[in-house]
Amino acid sequence: MKSNRRNFIGAFASMSALASTNMFASLEDSSSGTLTKHELPSLPYSYNALEPYIDAKTMELHHSKHHKAYVDGLNKAEAELAKARSSQDFSLIQYWIKQSAFHGGGHALHSLFWKCMASPTQGGGGEPKGQLSEKIKEDFGSFDSFKKQFSAAAASVEGSGWAILHLRKSDHRLIILQAENQHKLSAWDTIPLLNIDVWEHAYYLTYQNKRADYIQAWWNIVNWNFVEDLFKLHSR
Ligand SMILES: [Fe+2]
Repeated sequence: MKSNRRNFIGAFASMSALASTNMFASLEDSSSGTLTKHELPSLPYSYNALEPYIDAKTMELHHSKHHKAYVDGLNKAEAELAKARSSQDFSLIQYWIKQSAFHGGGHALHSLFWKCMASPTQGGGGEPKGQLSEKIKEDFGSFDSFKKQFSAAAASVEGSGWAILHLRKSDHRLIILQAENQHKLSAWDTIPLLNIDVWEHAYYLTYQNKRADYIQAWWNIVNWNFVEDLFKLHSR
């Protein structure tokens, strides 16, 4: 994100003539502090790469419309918070902070979600190997127990949300949590390693109301190499 901000700052200099029409530039130029310009990340594969488990149309809408809306919502919320600092009018602070948490959660979780998947021809599916495999056995008893608990957590999310495998830093233990919407039921001191989106927009075109069928299919495209790398990165 820092590089995005640096890029943005560089762009800001050449765009100074347009500052009055640029939300970020005008705010950067005020006494309200700096802003990050959040951007929609590219997918690490094509929209049809995860078929038949997730169809191309769902992936296109999910990434280019839904995830994009969270990025835009986060930029908007943080710009409004900057405006509040500039004007010293904090009357809408609760609303914009809630917006910031919702859209910021959506941006972060989707950014992780895309990386947690890969086509079976590119290494998706199967079971984890190496240190992560050993840690899952240590903390859940077996990979099968972990998979059943994670699937049950995903299937039982009330309304829209996520199931997330976290690494809890305080005792270096893997735990499974749900997140309702994009941000509720979160815990602290945890690093999300693997997540599944169980909002209907993630599966409805193919699976309709059969969330459990989508979850079962999703295990065929889990990118364990990525999850293993993330686990090792945060285990140092
Ligand atoms: Fe989503």
